[in-house]
Amino acid sequence: MNEAPVGIFDSGFGGLSVWKECKALLPKEQFIYIADQAYCPYGPKSQEAILQRGRELSHFFIQKGVKLIVIACNTATAAAIKQLREEFPIPFVGMEPAIKPAALASKTGHIGILATAGTFAGQHFKNTREKFAQDVELHIQVGEGLVELVESGKIKGAECRAVLEPFLLPMKDKRIDQLVLGCTHYPFLSKAISDILGNKVNLIDPAPAVARQLKRLLIEKKQMNKSPEKGIDIFFTTASLTSSQLTLKRLEDIIGVEINLSALSLED
Ligand code: DGL
Repeated sequence: MNEAPVGIFDSGFGGLSVWKECKALLPKEQFIYIADQAYCPYGPKSQEAILQRGRELSHFFIQKGVKLIVIACNTATAAAIKQLREEFPIPFVGMEPAIKPAALASKTGHIGILATAGTFAGQHFKNTREKFAQDVELHIQVGEGLVELVESGKIKGAECRAVLEPFLLPMKDKRIDQLVLGCTHYPFLSKAISDILGNKVNLIDPAPAVARQLKRLLIEKKQMNKSPEKGIDIFFTTASLTSSQLTLKRLEDIIGVEINLSALSLED
């Protein structure tokens, strides 16, 4: 069981920002990553549709013999993790809206949070906000179009700036000093975001905390992979391989390694 792989999925390449942290912390684990690009974006879809897709992906992972599933997507975590934990016999790790660390670090008392409509609609966001944002003002913004930018590899340049500015400049005017990246695609836009907000605004990416949570859980369940070798990961896309590979090339500088994608059809 310890050598069993870890499943990890997102609507697309955003979750690679989470995979990267998990891999850095747990190099011996073998990860099976699914970029569910046939269903991307998840953000505007209904909670029921995302849950159903989560079930299909989880079935696939179970067939592959994974010991745990990381939902590297805030939107899918919000829509599905509770139910998937009840339905499947393995542990799930999901994304956390990083409001707590942002509130603790803020000096101006103003925090920005960018996420998808689905994440903001979820009960988990509401609970976290109630619990940790009592003493700060939260400026929330749906990052409409940002997933699409990353999925087409447009993470810099004029088009990228034109989409980001209307979201970020009002937050800058409100003197935010922390911006929570509430979608796993957004770390790919960190440079473009900081170019607009300036270096006094700290960007908070929850991925390192998720990787630590994964490690804690594997230790607790005595399921850490102790093999002497580094795990060899497998990456799937549910969409067209050719266009996905092109995008991946544009993101590779940030991902830091070359990734070999394979096509996956869950319908087969
Ligand atoms: N990376 C997903 C998230 O963290 C993007 C959701 C989408 O596809 O809209 O929310």
